[in-house]
Formats: sequence, C-alpha cells, structure tokens
Amino acid sequence: MKVIAVYPGTFDPITNGHLDIISRGVRLFDDIILAILRNPDKEPLFPLEERMEILSSVVARLPNVRVESFDGLLIDYARSRGARVIVRGLRALSDFEYEYQMALMNQRLGPDIDTFFMMPSEAYSYVSSRLVKEVARLGGDVTGLVPPEVEARLKRRLAVMGRA
Ligand code: PNS
Repeated sequence: MKVIAVYPGTFDPITNGHLDIISRGVRLFDDIILAILRNPDKEPLFPLEERMEILSSVVARLPNVRVESFDGLLIDYARSRGARVIVRGLRALSDFEYEYQMALMNQRLGPDIDTFFMMPSEAYSYVSSRLVKEVARLGGDVTGLVPPEVEARLKRRLAVMGRA
C-alpha cells in the first residue's frame, strides 16, 4: 500500500531547509504533497499563485512530489488525499511547543493520520522563511539559504513593494 505524506506550510517563501526535508521525505514516502495553506492569518509576501509556481518549479525534478493548496482543517485535507502522514520539520527546541500542540490536536481530530517530524541538516537549523524575508528586506545576502529562483524573486518582489 502506498504511503502518501502531506507536507503543509505557508512556504512564504520555500527555503533550503524545507527542500532538505523534502529530499529526506522522498526517500521514505511514495508520494509527497506540498500543501500550501490558502488563507493564513499572516499576510504573505508572495501571493498564493506565485508560491505555487515557485514550489512547483523547485520540485519539478522530483517525480513523486506535487504541489497543491488547501483551506480549512489540515486533517480533513490530508484525509481527502488518502494521506496517512503529515510531515513537519523540527529545527530547534523553540519549534517544539507549537509543533507538539499542532500534532496532538491533529491526532485528536484524525487518529488515523500521524505527524512525522524530521530534522533538517544542521546547516539549515537556523533558517526560517521569516528571517530570510527580514534579511532580504534589509539588503542582506540570502545566497545558499533559499533556492536561486527564490533569491531572484525576493529581489523582484521587494523592489515592487518598495515602489508601491
Ligand atoms: O509553515 P507554517 O506557517 O508553520 O504552517 C502552519 C500550518 C499550515 C501547518 C497550520 O497553520 C495548519 O495546519 N493550518 C490549517 C488549519 C488547521 O488544520 N488548524 C488546526 C491544526 S492544529
């Protein structure tokens, strides 16, 4: 039986830390669905369509990874896709509290679906979308922290916003 995993997130933008988790996931699961939350409370830098485009492009060479968006409860979405696993990356202890609460809530809502935590390479243990955006916004170099395509799009997006 195929094991389908959903890797949910805001991915605003995707970082090399996310990609590291995805490349570990493809060794473990038959299919991985990258699921972008459609209406996060946070105001995203990149519109959903652009995040879908970026994700699709950076995982294009991985045949068993696809990109979708979702709304509503993650557990309902995962079930609708026949997924038995939710993948989340754990970097430092500071991630734990939030991830633990989400995993237990999802376990209560859907005991048939398990959350699977993976640690990215230590090289990315401090990388977050939030910090990448902050550094890029303030003119710092984010080379190596995000795929080159994201780096270029960050420059473009921030320039457009600066002009607005
Ligand atoms: O990358 P993020 O922003 O930390 O991802 C958060 C995400 C998308 C995994 C989380 O907000 C989510 O699952 N939202 C869907 C709504 C939901 O199911 N809420 C209850 C989960 S405990």
